[in-house]
Amino acid sequence: MDMNHGLFFVPPVVVQAGGYDDCRDAAVVVITAGAKQAPGQTRLELVRRNARIIRGILDEVLARTREAVIVMVTNPVDVLTHVAVRHAGLASGRVFGSGTVLDSARLRFALSRRFVVDPRSVHAYVVGEHGDSEIVLWSHAQIGGTSLKAFCASCGDPLAAVDREAIEKEVRDSAYHVIESKGATYYAVSLALERILATLLRDERSVLTVSAPVGGLYGLPDVCLSLPAVIGRGGVDRILKADLDPGEIEGLRRSADVLRRAIDEVEADGSA
Ligand SMILES: NC(=O)c1ccc[n+]([C@@H]2O[C@H](COP(=O)([O-])OP(=O)(O)OC[C@H]3O[C@@H](n4cnc5c(N)ncnc54)[C@H](O)[C@@H]3O)[C@@H](O)[C@H]2O)c1
Repeated sequence: MDMNHGLFFVPPVVVQAGGYDDCRDAAVVVITAGAKQAPGQTRLELVRRNARIIRGILDEVLARTREAVIVMVTNPVDVLTHVAVRHAGLASGRVFGSGTVLDSARLRFALSRRFVVDPRSVHAYVVGEHGDSEIVLWSHAQIGGTSLKAFCASCGDPLAAVDREAIEKEVRDSAYHVIESKGATYYAVSLALERILATLLRDERSVLTVSAPVGGLYGLPDVCLSLPAVIGRGGVDRILKADLDPGEIEGLRRSADVLRRAIDEVEADGSA
């Protein structure tokens, strides 16, 4: 009701509660369902529980359609995307996770504030795990096609020394701060999903840092993590293999190892 009462102010759209049967002719199914950590429950128990929930939901959806692209949002999103990719067995790219799309937006916001420019004029990516081991691709951060260093020089700001660690920390810890302050994150993640859905439904072929299988790229193990990828109507069309610094590749490997260990723990339960 609350959303429907706002329809006067936006382009026509139908908002309704539905059930699994509504998935029959869906172009996209977004999965955000999951259990919250119960008192006394370990992180591993929670992941295993959510893996079972995701498999149950996928069985219901796939019994009705195998045509929809499936977008995973439930956390830990990279581990559960891996579970979903395996369980669904759909064509490559048709199951992926929202990954670090939100983290990249947080990074762009932080840089836009630091350099006083529109966040849409900042190109910068957070890759790897959507979580503590994520990394910023500083070697590819640009403002209007200009490296951060050149941008600083051109505006007479000798800072070239952006406080990278402070910005990384701000981006990495944002979710904790929002959750601590108001219980959950809702607005930015919804806008991030709106962006993902727009590129899927309109075949916009935007480059977004979504979570998808990356086994083999940069010598990474069989995990789902985020890298810049072209997203179109069929899902992830291709993952870009950027020319990364050795330190960035090392960071990516560390992030992949964290995820591989988490996946192994879930698989030991027979949940993946
Ligand atoms: N990937 C990201 O960038 C990102 C950002 C924000 C939130 N999240 C994640 O999205 C998820 C949802 O967040 P939220 O704040 O809406 O949490 P929430 O706890 O408010 O909502 C989860 C919902 O899932 C439902 N659910 C549980 N088991 C189910 C099942 N078997 N079938 C159907 N529904 C079931 C619960 O009833 C609840 O309504 C969480 O896992 C959160 O961590 C991800």
